[in-house]
This record gives sequence, C-alpha cells and structure tokens, in this order.
Amino acid sequence: MLVEKVARRACTCSWSTPRYRLYSTRSQPSPPLQVQGKTYARDTYSNATPTILSKVGKNLHLKPNHPLSILRSRIEAHFPQFQHLNSLSPIVTVKQNFDDLGFPPDHPGRSLTDSYYLNKQEMLRTHTSAHEVELFKAGVEQFLLTADVYRRDEIDRSHYPVFHQMEGANVTTRGEGLARLEKENEEMRQRLDSANIIITDPTRETTATNPIQEEHSEEEARIISDHLKNTLNTLVLRLFGGLRKEGDQEPLQVRWIEATFPWTSPSYEVEVLYEGKWLEILGCGVVKQDALNRSDVPQKLGWAFGLGLERIAMVLFSVPDIRLFWSEDTRFLSQFNEDSITPFKPYSRHPECYKDLAFWTAEGFHENDFCEVVRDVAGDLVEGVQLIDEFVHPKTNRRSVCYRLNYRSMDRSLSNDEVNEIQAKVIETVVEQMGVEVR
Ligand code: PHE
Repeated sequence: MLVEKVARRACTCSWSTPRYRLYSTRSQPSPPLQVQGKTYARDTYSNATPTILSKVGKNLHLKPNHPLSILRSRIEAHFPQFQHLNSLSPIVTVKQNFDDLGFPPDHPGRSLTDSYYLNKQEMLRTHTSAHEVELFKAGVEQFLLTADVYRRDEIDRSHYPVFHQMEGANVTTRGEGLARLEKENEEMRQRLDSANIIITDPTRETTATNPIQEEHSEEEARIISDHLKNTLNTLVLRLFGGLRKEGDQEPLQVRWIEATFPWTSPSYEVEVLYEGKWLEILGCGVVKQDALNRSDVPQKLGWAFGLGLERIAMVLFSVPDIRLFWSEDTRFLSQFNEDSITPFKPYSRHPECYKDLAFWTAEGFHENDFCEVVRDVAGDLVEGVQLIDEFVHPKTNRRSVCYRLNYRSMDRSLSNDEVNEIQAKVIETVVEQMGVEVR
C-alpha cells in the first residue's frame, strides 16, 4: 500500500485544494490544538481531527506481544549493529517531512487531502523518512527506526489512516567504510547462494529513468546498491523463508522493481510472492547526495529503506482486517506471543450492515475528505467506503455520487438502530461540513 502509493503519488495524482474546513467553521474560532500536553496554533491548514490525534501515543509497535511489536523485534534482530529508535514524536515540521527530502513544492503528497496538518508548519509525519536528515545530521550512520505514520486515505480492510513503518539507513565514508560494505556483501551473497530463494532483479541494468548519481563512481554505486539489496534479500529470507511448510520445496520468490523517490537514486521496490500473490513490502534506494549535503555530511554515502509493518503483519499473522491491530479485545490480543509467529484464529465474525448514500457534490469535493468525516463519526465501526455509482448531470453539470458504507464491529453485533443512528449522523455532518446535497 504505502510504498506503491507514494510512488504513484509522485507521478500521477493531481493537486487539489479543499475549499472547506474539516470540522466546524461555524462556531467561534477553535481553541489551539492540544497534543500530548503541547499546544499548537491553528490556521487554515489545520485538518488533523480529534479522532486522528487520539491515536498519537498509542505506540502499538511497542505493545508487548502485539503482532506489530513481534514483527518489529524480528526485523531488529536482522540489524544488530544498528541504533534502534522507537520513540520519536510523530509531530514533525513540513520541512522534515518533505523539504529536506527534496519533495517539489507541488508534490501531491503535500496536499491537504493526503496529509494531516496541525498548521502550516507542523504536521503528522506521513513516513518515517521524515527523520532521516536529522539523524544523519546528528552523526548517526546506521539506524532502524519504528514509528506510527499518518495518511489520509480511502477506507477498506487494508487501509487505516494510522499505520507503522520501519526506516533503515546505512551511511558511511569512502575508503574504509565502503571496503566494509564490500566485505559484508561477500558474506551475504554466500548466504543467499545457499538458500532456497529466487531473486529476480531487472534493475541491475542501469536505466535513464533510474540513474546512478554523478557524485558516485560506477563501483561505489554498485557496492552500495548491492549492499542494500543483499541486506533486504536476507531480511526477506528471515521473515518469509522459515514460514513455509515443512517439506515445502518451493523456493521463496522475491523481485526488484524500479521506483522513484525524491531523495534516492537509484530507487527500488521489493515484492515477495506469498501464497500466490505478489506482495509489495518496501521502498528503498541509494540516498541522494543532495540529502546528505543538507544533513551536513557531504562526505558520506549510503542507502535507506522504508517498510510498512501492517502489510507484512497481515499476511504473516493471517489478520484479515487492519482495524484488528487496534482492538483491545483480549480474544485478539491474547493470541500472540513474543517468540513466535502464529496465525490469528478468528473469533466469530459479526454480521456486516451496509447503507448507501447518494449526494450531489460541492466544488472541490475529495473522497478522502468524505472518508475522514465517516471515520470521525463512525470510528472503527466502518469497514469500507466504496463508490458504487457516479454521473454528471448533462444540463447542470453537477456531479452525483453514491457511496456504499459498510459497517461491522470487530467485537460485537451492531443493532440496526445503532447503524441507522450513525448513518444519520454521517449524513448530517457531510451536509454541514462539505456542503453536499443529499439526493
Ligand atoms: N518513505 C518511503 C515510503 O513511505 C519509503 C522509502 C524509505 C523509500 C527510504 C526510499 C528510502 O514509501
């Protein structure tokens, strides 16, 4: 989800600016935002809702025996020499999240429909890469950072506006540093050669769209890229290799794909074949010299990667709905244990209930804003929001949409009255805040 999204955002999405506020504009000027005891001034950028802000500090990646924490520990074990950082605040500056990494001013990821802002300068990080420059600046050369990240998105069983990423980076100096990487390359290559794994890597050919950097010699670029690839191929082997059934002769399959990120070149994505499907698990690349210059370490060079924990945890632990990670139900939490990866055994699946909602959109309508309102009203009771019909009126040019809202609780049965009440509140709120006209 995440890596692909960012890559796609980089090239295809259009910039759109909502013309309305996400929550009440009619009352008195809202008080400043309070998050974890700190106060943040509001301005026209503020779009982080109370529901989203209530997730700050939950730190599922640190919750003992939680699947996300179990997975984090597994990945940390692959990087024993690295500094492991788990408690950096999710509130970062726009400079940290975007500018320092070379995101262009008009990059769609910056838009209010995609990201959560506290105000024009401060936001909830959309990725763990937001900390790369500050850590390089502080002289950290090898780190593995785990944290919650926030993105405005659609609603379905694999998307949640808060999820967790791990960022790994390894930078070093020319000469001795690179010689060490070359030595480690040799060891990792031997391990991979004797493992039951097939790695498909068309990105070994340099292309004009994914070039090596002019500051690097061909040999330097090769050593760094190989080190990145060997490190991640062995990581994938560690995470997915041991999980195949006893006597299973099928090799593990991994493929490398060309990608684009503003602060790496060449850039790649990694996919793993799992139960017959290609699963995209991470984005990575050779850190651009630009970003290292901005970190005041122009003499260093190296790589970085970012992976999404939920995505991997959903397949490794057979978790069917991303909301389950937020469940406080002991029937969920008691199933997992720090020293093993075991499949989730669903306790009774409660019935779903869907309601359709058709309306004429107002100017500047964006689906993510609609989803935000639904989340804010329905919380974790909403399982999916799907556009099922749309048309433009030939005379008035107005656009009509119909969304199907799926409600289901992870823990109990919902009564019809309860769902009707939530749906009525959703309607009231979208009409008030988004200026739409229900049909
Ligand atoms: N931050 C990127 C994402 O969220 C992943 C990434 C990390 C890519 C580091 C390159 C280097 O998709």
